Amino acid sequence: GKSKPWGGRFTESTDAFVEAFTASVGFDQRLYRQDIAGSIAHARMLARVGVLTAAECDEIIAGLEDIRAEIEAGGFDWSVGLEDVHMNIEARLTERIGATGKKLHTGRSRNDQVATDMRLYLREEIDLITAELERLQGGLIDLAEREADTIMPGFTHLQVAMPVTFGHHMLAWFEMLERDRQRLADCRRRVNVMPLGAAAMAGTTYPIDRHYTAELLGFDAPAENSLDAVSDRDFAIEFTSAAALLLMHLSRCSEELILWTSAQFGFIDLPDRFCTGSSIMPQKKNPDVPELVRGKTGRVNGHLIGLLTLMKGQPLAYNKDNQEDKEPLFDTVDTVRGCLRVFADMIPAIEPKRERLRAAALEGFSTATDLADYLVRKGLPFRDAHEVVGRAVRLGLEQGRDLSQLSLEQLQQFSGIIEQDVFDVLTLEGSIASRDHIGGTAPAQVRAAAQRARERLSR
Ligand code: ARG
Repeated sequence: GKSKPWGGRFTESTDAFVEAFTASVGFDQRLYRQDIAGSIAHARMLARVGVLTAAECDEIIAGLEDIRAEIEAGGFDWSVGLEDVHMNIEARLTERIGATGKKLHTGRSRNDQVATDMRLYLREEIDLITAELERLQGGLIDLAEREADTIMPGFTHLQVAMPVTFGHHMLAWFEMLERDRQRLADCRRRVNVMPLGAAAMAGTTYPIDRHYTAELLGFDAPAENSLDAVSDRDFAIEFTSAAALLLMHLSRCSEELILWTSAQFGFIDLPDRFCTGSSIMPQKKNPDVPELVRGKTGRVNGHLIGLLTLMKGQPLAYNKDNQEDKEPLFDTVDTVRGCLRVFADMIPAIEPKRERLRAAALEGFSTATDLADYLVRKGLPFRDAHEVVGRAVRLGLEQGRDLSQLSLEQLQQFSGIIEQDVFDVLTLEGSIASRDHIGGTAPAQVRAAAQRARERLSR
């Protein structure tokens, strides 16, 4: 390989397998843009405090920009011998501009450099992920408004519980994702702190201006402690934790979509473009997209545990262990972005089958609680009302009829206070309309909640 920037104190060259084993360039070249941006800001700062001349700084910046173009054109020759993205770019700079290139690393270490690159990278990805998440949330709000009157059964224990609207269900998903959005925003505040200037671990002897570098790179502040700045990867763990929660939510949504597309539920249609077929069974249309999202949740959970375990045994300050933070973090980012993108595309395309949803809400005695509440309004204590309705349900089960399909005389067998107006509360429309408070499923409440959701999303 090429000669090592750190080769001075060594008497033999690196073992060939050790060279490959310790290299990270195969995966950390993804950080080239952040690495170059960090180097340019560092060079500007060095010139400002008089460590570099203005001419040297200009030369370095021009060289780095050429290298960026070279990389983007696919013409950069990445060397495993040069270990990582940082040394590859620095070595190339000296190759291109000569001796001045060797001054770039003044007052800096790969330790503060890599920590800075990772934070710049993650900050950008959090913004992209948030934008995609907001697109998905917007789709849920639209769907909720469109289906604010669509009645479906709500479940507990996956047994029919009470009627709700499809719109209300979509807004439940919105709320889950809204908390994920807040977690990402909160995580971003701690990501956006600058390690540069910590150098290897103790700081540097040059009269550096860390506030200036931080400002150039858009960081909120320089990190307070040099040891901490180069060593901790808690920001990556925190992001992965927020990502794991987000995917856990998408996985739950997926599980419902999968159930709903089955013949047994038949609640929704997913357009063909989000499904695939079977190589043997000609009739099949499988909900692969939600199934894959549900499946991908597992790998992000794995990355979270991997990163926590990576960090837990490390003494201060930097250790090479931290090179292992990259692949799990990159894969977490790629996985979350992919899942959000496909979900944001798919949600607006969901077609609820309104007739079938309504029929399903009429199975399973979903208005039983409404009958109990009716009896309470007529003066019966709730526990007695519960008992009366339970017996009415038993009759319904025997006769294969919903409560609303029993006659007034049949209902009156269980309680004399039941009158003709009972049929108003036994209807699905009556049931949902009566849950008319903040957070309830009444269509007017769902519309108002959708409106508020839109405002919260735009804030
Ligand atoms: N490739 C290394 C990493 O990803 C960069 C920092 C290496 N520093 C060192 N002193 N070996 O963590």
